[in-house]
Amino acid sequence: MPFKHFLSVTDLTPSEVREVLVLANDIKRAPDRFRTALQGQTLAMIFQKKSTRTRVSFEVGMVQLGGHALFLSSADIQIGRGETIADTARVLSRYCNGIMARVYGHDTVEELARWASVPVINGLSDLEHPCQTLCDAQTLVEKWNPAGTFDPDVLRGKTLVYVGDGNNMAHSLLDTGAALGMHVTVVAPHGYWPDPAIVDRCQRLAAQTGARMAVTDDRERGVMGADCIYTDVWASMGQEEEHAKRLRDFDGYIVDAAMMARANPGCVFMHCLPAHRGEEVSADVCDGPQSIIFDQAENRLHVQKALMCKLMGGR
Ligand code: CP
Ligand code: NVA
Repeated sequence: MPFKHFLSVTDLTPSEVREVLVLANDIKRAPDRFRTALQGQTLAMIFQKKSTRTRVSFEVGMVQLGGHALFLSSADIQIGRGETIADTARVLSRYCNGIMARVYGHDTVEELARWASVPVINGLSDLEHPCQTLCDAQTLVEKWNPAGTFDPDVLRGKTLVYVGDGNNMAHSLLDTGAALGMHVTVVAPHGYWPDPAIVDRCQRLAAQTGARMAVTDDRERGVMGADCIYTDVWASMGQEEEHAKRLRDFDGYIVDAAMMARANPGCVFMHCLPAHRGEEVSADVCDGPQSIIFDQAENRLHVQKALMCKLMGGR
């Protein structure tokens, strides 16, 4: 893969997305083969927001590839005192082989990428969460392929319905579905629909890959035909003060057993986590037999190892 940043799923071509997923599966099946893939390399990890999965999976992933990761809370580095993103990107590029950043504004990862001379990976911005949805795709490929096989084409023609806020997760799921030929419907109340520019770009790509992208507020019909129902919190990081209003606005959009019953038989439930049981998902669905949330969480590790190998030139 040529030198590139990964700020969005759209930074990879559809065939590169497939390559990453296949490598992630290889790494998961035989991790020892990749123990020295990034030997001696260092990943800087800048966090403006909290994290459990992203921080731990990147850090453990680097160690398992023979490298090292540095946790840099933005409050504790000079960014917190006003040093520019441009200077930070240029300095970190002199020490490290890659930069992963979890930020508020998407323009922050774009600015890092503009100035860094090493790959920059978006570990979540307000606009997109592309590492998460690569692992989601890996998880669905595993789920829907016959045991022992791993063919990303199994996603073609399947339907993922995302119920909830048209946020970073909705955007990256649309991008991922469009790349891989999987239909994606976003079910959200008016006022919480995904960015129309992102829906447009996904529809253009989907026209080439055979996928259908849709947005609706109809939570009855919207989930019909779903092979996967996915949700996320109603108030994301940075929106905590809107929590009470959002609880009211999303009333009735909880993913519960009645909603799952309207989907296809065998429909799986996904959530990027952390989850608020009793808000966007009922506890019985979140912890029930259709839920694959911890397989998803595990796959953050494998898919990010694959991504780092591809972007940082691992053997
Ligand atoms: N899903 C996800 O990104 O989790 P964290 O916020 O814990 O990193
Ligand atoms: N939409 C959520 C995702 C967390 C992984 C947030 O941005 O807080």
